[in-house]
Amino acid sequence: MSARGDQPRTPVLRQEYRPPAWWVDHVELEFDLDATETRVTSRMSVRRNPEVDAEPLTLSGAGLETKRVEIDGEPAKFDERGADETLVVEGVPERAEVTTEVVVHPERNTALEGLYKSGAMLLTQCEAEGFRKITWFPDRPDVMATYRVRLAGDRERFPVLLSNGNCMETGELDDGRHFAVWNDPFPKPSYLFAIVAGELSELADTFTTRSGREVALKFYSEPENIGQLDHAMESLKKSMAWDEERFGLEYDLDVFHVVATHDFNMGAMENKSLNIFNARYVLADRETATDADYEAIESVIAHEYFHNWTGNRVTCRDWFQLTLKEGLTVFRDQEFTADMRSPGVKRIQDVSDLMARQFPEDAGPMAHPVRPERYVEINNFYTATVYEKGAQVVRMYETLLGRDGFRRGMDLYFERHDGQAVTCDDFRRAMADANDADLEQFERWYRQVGTPTVEASTRYDESAGELVLELAQRLPEHPDNRNIGALMIPVKVGFLDTDNRPLPVTLSGESEAGPETRLLVLTDEKAEYRFRDLPADALPSLLRDYSAPVKLDYDWSSRDLARLAGFDSDPFSRWRAMRRLSERVLGDLIEGRDEHDAELLIEAWAAVLDGSGEDPALAAELLSLPSVGELAQDRDPVDIEAIHAARVELLGLLGRRLENALRERFDTLAPTGEWSSEGPDAARRRLRNVALGLLASGGCDDAAEWASKHYDGADNMTDRLAAFRTLVHHELEGAQDALADFEQRFADDQLVMDKWFAVQATRSDERAVDDVRRLMDHAAFRLNNPNKVRSLIGAFAMMNPVAFHRADGAGYKLVGEVLDKLDDINPQVGARLATSFNRWRAYDDKRSAMMKEQLQKLAAKKGLSPDIEEIVTAALK
Ligand code: PHE
Ligand code: ZN
Repeated sequence: MSARGDQPRTPVLRQEYRPPAWWVDHVELEFDLDATETRVTSRMSVRRNPEVDAEPLTLSGAGLETKRVEIDGEPAKFDERGADETLVVEGVPERAEVTTEVVVHPERNTALEGLYKSGAMLLTQCEAEGFRKITWFPDRPDVMATYRVRLAGDRERFPVLLSNGNCMETGELDDGRHFAVWNDPFPKPSYLFAIVAGELSELADTFTTRSGREVALKFYSEPENIGQLDHAMESLKKSMAWDEERFGLEYDLDVFHVVATHDFNMGAMENKSLNIFNARYVLADRETATDADYEAIESVIAHEYFHNWTGNRVTCRDWFQLTLKEGLTVFRDQEFTADMRSPGVKRIQDVSDLMARQFPEDAGPMAHPVRPERYVEINNFYTATVYEKGAQVVRMYETLLGRDGFRRGMDLYFERHDGQAVTCDDFRRAMADANDADLEQFERWYRQVGTPTVEASTRYDESAGELVLELAQRLPEHPDNRNIGALMIPVKVGFLDTDNRPLPVTLSGESEAGPETRLLVLTDEKAEYRFRDLPADALPSLLRDYSAPVKLDYDWSSRDLARLAGFDSDPFSRWRAMRRLSERVLGDLIEGRDEHDAELLIEAWAAVLDGSGEDPALAAELLSLPSVGELAQDRDPVDIEAIHAARVELLGLLGRRLENALRERFDTLAPTGEWSSEGPDAARRRLRNVALGLLASGGCDDAAEWASKHYDGADNMTDRLAAFRTLVHHELEGAQDALADFEQRFADDQLVMDKWFAVQATRSDERAVDDVRRLMDHAAFRLNNPNKVRSLIGAFAMMNPVAFHRADGAGYKLVGEVLDKLDDINPQVGARLATSFNRWRAYDDKRSAMMKEQLQKLAAKKGLSPDIEEIVTAALK
């Protein structure tokens, strides 16, 4: 139990980092495993750090029952301080062996941090500060030790015993027990430690690294899911090959394990050689996983595998540096997916996700730099900012230095820091030094808060015959932005002629024609760029490839947006232009203006549909509108009903006006050959399902019949789910049958039931509140399972603004009640859900007051977790 008082918690500050007073070189752990009571003995070889002032050995621990503390085999004097969860051991000599013995209770651990139980299996989650819930330790990432782990437990209950590194020994014990000893030769921070014990089935394969090391690859799941591991295994092999190819990085041990669990707070965890995964990012087969699931699995498998170098071999000095491993590893997994699938579509999806999830965070009460300055609960900083914006920051190095330059920087980074715990500054210096580049100014990206804006304008200088582009940058108002100054912003630009063909971009004074996409680097508050040989009416395409994580202001006409959407050479830029155009039309509809450019949008969509044979996945991206949530982002006050109505109106118009083309697409995209989860097949299904959804939006007569047929005839989850969603969200005839059929068909499959919950939770209708309440009593729902909470409550609160903001406050009340319970069960999952109230101030007085009331109720709760407290306090401030 955490025994903190009720006084406000003081944040940890980045500037206050101090190196540890003690090192741990090696640790021997012994687990006597049992679901109710597990005994953990730890023998640490500790050594005083001569570089800092002497301090007694201070260890972290939370909820431990301490049985014994010894120094070199003799009972030690120690002081256990419940309030700050530390154990101070007196009289430890310069070097010593410190032994502790504790008891922990996995079964009672509903927070899923430390040692806990999932189904019949026992497993651990240590990042960020879970190791202290297992044993006393300097639980901070700059203390790196080698681990030797002995696991002992009942052979029947725990036939499989796993930990990091290599298995050294196994054997029998008395009373039906057995043991296994694991040794990890690589020093690692405690957050990368893991064990797994249980009855698990195994899928084994091998991978031979390019230097000839044969690596055993082993995937584990509950026996009934063993047939769903093949795609993840293939993904792992692709990831291993890709990292060798692109970054020259090879795997470094003889074995690599992946374990799937249904009870997990996050997506997956990169524990050294023993990755633990939320089952939803491992298990897949055609009947139960969508194409999006297949792609997500491939990318999360890659992400965790890539961490072996970016995170494990080189780790973070302290948790403020989290983006050092996460931003970089997300960048790497994005590049991997781009190479495996379609780079243009991947770029669109990543930016679209950034705008939908990170922009609001950047504009909200918890806004923080990619390298935060302070935190109360580090678990609250596993954010879209640290991960996704962090990845955009890493991408800018590559944009600025080129692919080869970036690779040189990576090589130098590993050469310098392999085996170390380092900082974002170390990474930046490696990038700079390897390229003889000055990246001092680039450091500001790590300190600025909020999304910067770049304002662009163009004019034609007749006398010089030059087209002039002006760029100016601005940071949002925020106390932490006061002393930042100008950022270094890479801006990729191009121009189209009146026939929408690309023009060479040549700066004035250059003698040779420039490239069609030009990289400008804005380093001042304002700059002017002069181009020669461009016609006065050249159409600018700005921020191609989303070359920097900024908002771009430029005053395009609707017609020019339609041109860019149809013809720009950069897929991202096409998507962005289409988005701008639809945002403009929707804005007019929301404000109730009669004049709007819907006709232009219809034309643009018609053109996309027409040419969609070439790249159906790109077409599917282009044929989408911003969500209600995204449209709400920049509005204050927010009128959810008006936004929703405008969206329904426009979708209806698009569906009706494009009906023939949509029908035609739906037919021509029908599957021909064998099913495959590969990109081209997935792309066809994707566009076909978009067409179906639009036909339903258009209120087209036979939409219900088509959707039902699509549902019944589906031989894969992508089609079945799309049809199911269409039926339920549009309340088409057949929706009730589909709900019952889906439920019955997949009753035994937890992951598919998550989809069943999510579809109902996201129906844009006030009555969804009542559905969610009812579904919370469903046999398949559990408040102590994060996937269930996210698919029902999380989806409702975050992805169904129409129901969540129901005028009578029923949505707020529901989420408030759930939060109150989650706070006792799983604060980490609760804290994420609590952010759904972040924008309470932007709503009308009534709604605003009701949301505030939920926040205040939580704030007043006795024993409120630090996780939720930090979110709620920031929101109320
Ligand atoms: N480090 C994990 C990842 O990004 C995420 C994670 C964080 C998982 C904290 C569990 C707990 O891959
Ligand atoms: Zn990660």
